[in-house]
Formats: sequence, structure tokens, C-alpha cells
Amino acid sequence: MTITANWSYPTTIKFGAGRIKELADHCTALGIKKPLLITDRGLAPMPITQNALDILDAAGLGRALFSEVDSNPTDVNLAAGVKAFKDGGHDGVIAFGGGSGLDLGKCVAFMAGQTRPVWDFEDIGDWWMRASVEGIAPIIAVPTTAGTGSEVGRASVITNSQTHTKKVIFHPKFLPAVTICDPELTVGMPKVITAGTGMDAFAHCLEAYSSPFYHPMSAGIALEGLRLVKEYLPRAYKDGTDIEARAHMMSAAAMGAVAFQKGLGAIHSLSHPVGAIYNTHHGTTNAVVMPPVLRFNRPAIEDKIGMAAAYLGISGGFDGFYNYVLKLREELGVPDKLSALGVGTDRIDEMAAMAIVDPTAGGNPVELTLDAAKQLFKECI
Ligand SMILES: [Fe+2]
Repeated sequence: MTITANWSYPTTIKFGAGRIKELADHCTALGIKKPLLITDRGLAPMPITQNALDILDAAGLGRALFSEVDSNPTDVNLAAGVKAFKDGGHDGVIAFGGGSGLDLGKCVAFMAGQTRPVWDFEDIGDWWMRASVEGIAPIIAVPTTAGTGSEVGRASVITNSQTHTKKVIFHPKFLPAVTICDPELTVGMPKVITAGTGMDAFAHCLEAYSSPFYHPMSAGIALEGLRLVKEYLPRAYKDGTDIEARAHMMSAAAMGAVAFQKGLGAIHSLSHPVGAIYNTHHGTTNAVVMPPVLRFNRPAIEDKIGMAAAYLGISGGFDGFYNYVLKLREELGVPDKLSALGVGTDRIDEMAAMAIVDPTAGGNPVELTLDAAKQLFKECI
């Protein structure tokens, strides 16, 4: 098997098993002499993280680590990270991990050059133009899961610790200068995380493909991303050491995030409030709410999904695709209802109100009204 390539869309991606060994070379090429590796608490002591630090150390770049990162990174984590970056005299960030390590790492590199508070750079209009570009540190991203796609994205999600709301912070310079996609780093992921993150990638591709916005490049990428998930997620789930399957899932994750420039939809609009209130796993939550959202969107996407089904080798058009999603979820041990994730019916009104103002709601092919969101939550729970 040869899956090795150098890509430059949307950024430079060094793809292939074992390529983490190039980490120090990429620091040098970017002029980084004193990198700070940022990851979450859980990953910090793991062999893959320690190995990355060893690679830096052996090249004379030190082994500086910041890991005070929550699973939903906050402004408190961010302030501590920026302080560690400045106090340590660092000149670049290695954002390492799943969504939390990647998002916080990217945001530390950005905020190292800013004087305004982070909330001034929320993804609203042209707020990103307020940023001072000179002081932003270069970023190398190293994903260790296959789902979020943050390694190829220009935003980070940071939770406001005062209001407990998630905010999207955006700037073009959040895009890592280099991303190392080494599927060997994902081998240790537990089954439940392999399933959840994989279904997040699937949801990104599905929602991007279904959104009504015109972006044929993203639509094409989304379609092929769906095919990779269909073919390789069950394999990666069954045998975590299947490097070929892990590699294709890593591609699908990056492709999902490239594709969702075209938009997301109600799967994410429903999933975000559930995650914020009940702290459920993002990708798993997406997988649970996926079938009711598909049914809701059917009038607008029936033909489109029929074309996708044909490409994926699924017969029966929309119904065939819908049944395939049910079967895939079952195969991956994803529960059928949100109640299995601890979600009750008592906060439906609150969650529905949050869902309809979620930034992803605008990309849903059928308008997500308050009543529709309440009804969807009822079905999902
Ligand atoms: Fe997602």
C-alpha cells in the first residue's frame, strides 16, 4: 500500500504513515527555533506525544509542552496557553491532538500577537480584520483523531467560561502552515472515539453536500469523503491497527472540514446545544440525530441524496441511503436515541431556542424553525 502525497489544498499536508518523524524539519523550514507543543491533558503522557517531543528534542528544539486544555477548550485555557507561550519565549506552535488540542493550539498562536480580547474575533462579518497579523505565530498541526478536520480549518471553537457558550473564533491565519497527517498516530484511539469522530467526518460531508449553497468543489470533496467513510470506517472500527483504513479516515476527516466551507446544517445545530448542556461526545451526538434530520430534510434533498447513493453503490435512492445510515450506526455501536446519552425531554425548549440561532442552522436545506427544532428533539430523544 502506498498512500503518501504532498497536497497544498487548502494548505500543505504531509500525508502518510510515519511522517511525524519530519516534525523537526518542518519547524526548521518555518524558522521555528523554540516550538511549544499544545495538546490536551489526556494525551500529554501518551507515547505518541512523548515521541513527538523526543523528535523536537533530538533536533535541538527543546521539548516544551502545554497541556492545560479541557475537552471543550475555554478562554481560561487560552489565557494560560498564551502566557506559557510568551513566558517561554516561543516562536511557533505545534497544535497536537483531537479537536481540543488543535483548536486551542491554533488560537494560542493567533492570540500571541493580539492586544484585544479573543471575543473581538468571533466569526461575525469582517471582525477578523481587527486582528494584528504581524505577531501571529506559525502553526504546525498534527491530528491524532480522524473527525474534526480542525487541522485544515481557519477557525477554533472556544467556550466562554462565563456564559458557557461556544464561540467560533476566525482568522485566515488560523490555517496551519503545515499539517502532518500520520495515520499511525490514530491507532490507539478507543473504538467509541473511532466511531464518534468518524461519524463527525461523515456528518460534515453529508451536511456540506446537502447544503443549498453553490460550491461544486466542496460538493465533490464531500461526496468522495462519504465514500471513504463508507468503505473504511467499519474497517478502522473493527481493527484499530488497520493502517490503510486509518489513513483513508484521516483523509475523510480533512475532506469533511474542507467541504463544510459549503455549509453545515441541522445535524450540527441540534448537536451543539446537546453537547453544551449534557457534555456528550460531538460526533456520537451527530450520529444519533442524523436519521431524524435526514427525514426532516427529505423534501429538499431527495434527488441529491439519490445521486450520492448511486455514487456510493447504494441502491434504492434516498430510502436506500437512509437505511444504510441506520445500519452503519448499528455496526458502530451508536445508540438510536439521545436518551441513551443521558439527554432528557425537560430542556427541549431551551435546546430548540439554541439550535435555531446556531451558526450552522442557516445551511440546512429546510428552514429550521423553533417548532421544527422542538419536534426534531422529541424524535431524537
Ligand atoms: Fe462536527
